[in-house]
Amino acid sequence: MSVRVFVPRDAAALAVGADAVAAAFARHAPGVAIVRTGSRGMFWLEPLVEVETPEGRIGYGPVSAADVPGLLAAGMLAGGAHRLRIGRPEDHPFLARQTRLTFARCGLVDPASVADYAAHGGWIGLARALALGPMAALEEVVQSGLRGRGGAGFPTGVKWRTVAEAKGARKYVVCNADEGDSGTFADRMIMEGDPFVLIEGMVIAGYAAGASQGYVYARSEYPHAVAAFGHALRAARAAGYLGADVAGSGFAFDIELRVGAGAYVCGEETAMLDSIEGKRGQVRAKPPLPAHEGLFGQPTVINNLISLATVPVILEKGGAFYHEFGMGRSRGTMPIQLAGNVKHGGLFETAFGVTLGELVDDIGGGTASGRPVRAVQVGGPLGAYFPRALFGTPFDYEAFAAKDGLIGHGGVVVFDDTVDMAEQARFAMEFCALESCGKCTPCRIGSTRGVEVMERIMLGENVAANRALIADLCDTMKFGSLCALGGFTPYPVMSALTHFPEDFAGRSLPAAAE
Ligand SMILES: Cc1cc2nc3c(=O)[nH]c(=O)nc-3n(C[C@H](O)[C@H](O)[C@H](O)COP(=O)(O)O)c2cc1C
Ligand code: SF4
Repeated sequence: MSVRVFVPRDAAALAVGADAVAAAFARHAPGVAIVRTGSRGMFWLEPLVEVETPEGRIGYGPVSAADVPGLLAAGMLAGGAHRLRIGRPEDHPFLARQTRLTFARCGLVDPASVADYAAHGGWIGLARALALGPMAALEEVVQSGLRGRGGAGFPTGVKWRTVAEAKGARKYVVCNADEGDSGTFADRMIMEGDPFVLIEGMVIAGYAAGASQGYVYARSEYPHAVAAFGHALRAARAAGYLGADVAGSGFAFDIELRVGAGAYVCGEETAMLDSIEGKRGQVRAKPPLPAHEGLFGQPTVINNLISLATVPVILEKGGAFYHEFGMGRSRGTMPIQLAGNVKHGGLFETAFGVTLGELVDDIGGGTASGRPVRAVQVGGPLGAYFPRALFGTPFDYEAFAAKDGLIGHGGVVVFDDTVDMAEQARFAMEFCALESCGKCTPCRIGSTRGVEVMERIMLGENVAANRALIADLCDTMKFGSLCALGGFTPYPVMSALTHFPEDFAGRSLPAAAE
């Protein structure tokens, strides 16, 4: 059998030349079998090439096409020494410190192969769910304590139960893969690196909630994810895991992939439903909850991709097993995404409870620029900015809420001491103005007024009065907006003002904002 060399096809690896690396191996070592995988999530090492040896897989990275002849000459096909050799990826401190439950297979398996997924423990969760029956399968998810990974942290099993108990001619499962949060890429990594785990999770969700059709809503800015997931859907259908008789069980379930143009508000669940229905994505007033009247007016489970991709391991190992991890009411693991100005950017899955300081200083290695870390924005564009003084905060839904923050989809964006926090606050308002669906006044009008007030502060006009005005405006947006786009924009604005008041003393406007 020929030596197997693994080269990621994840978008992060492609962006730094993974295709050229794969082509170089094909040219210089025509006998090797090249397997295209997802990413292990150590982005500073991409393209991270691995070779199968009797001692396990040995990694080399970051590899460029020009490195390939030298690597081959150094005997890398047998795991030979080279300056780019990192040893077994699992032994690398960044991976060794993780608890990979949702991402256990990502970067390891061939994402195009149903058989490879099965060889790495895939479909066991589904088999167990089918053996347990819908109600018992649902109870495993309730027992696991899994909460929605899309932002709001609502208990997943409770949501499913509501749909299971609702009356409807047809029920749906919708996977929210819009992933609009800044600095986040976990959904994309699963679609590109382990797509069958999402399919398996959605089938289990459909089975437990009594749904017959699933939709995955992704965005056109994720072309590689869309292609990889589209392929996986066809492969799963051909293998009998989707369709009229899922895995020979008699249960019928299929999944359709829908690709939106990419509007932040279309990640909000009801705007997403409108978009899937072919309408302009606009937020719907609640009630009715989507669990009662969702897609096409029918009871609908809406979950983030990571929530659904975590279900197979819960069913495989049991709700009690998953519940063992974490702290307080935040059970299980969270795939945390380290981004921005950080030395070791990537995906770090760990049990809840790790502190922000550990994540940024220790695991992330501080800034990529080498300058001191000044601020960290957690939870996407609507998340709060944390100063170093709050780095002791554990990653936990309640602990972050107690500090007027949110963990959202697990994005952590690092800034060094050159950041202008007044400009970040102005940008938060501008982002809201640009992305607002326009349905309610506090968000549609308030965000534009917010940009103007921030610009006056930055120009030094009536600073004290304008700071009071921005706080008042934030209060109105927080309590008067229909959805969290307008309602949470005050988090970045007010956290910047509260923790970095020295940046709000007034100065001239930066050129980019004029
Ligand atoms: C403006 C806005 C954008 C959102 N974007 C996303 C998104 O990109 N992905 C996501 O899963 N949830 C997003 N959400 C949260 C969803 O509305 C919803 O809570 C989530 O998909 C439910 O799944 P979960 O319970 O598994 O988290 C967004 C919410 C708002 C208000
Ligand atoms: S808060 Fe903004 S995005 Fe949400 S419904 Fe109101 S206008 Fe639309």
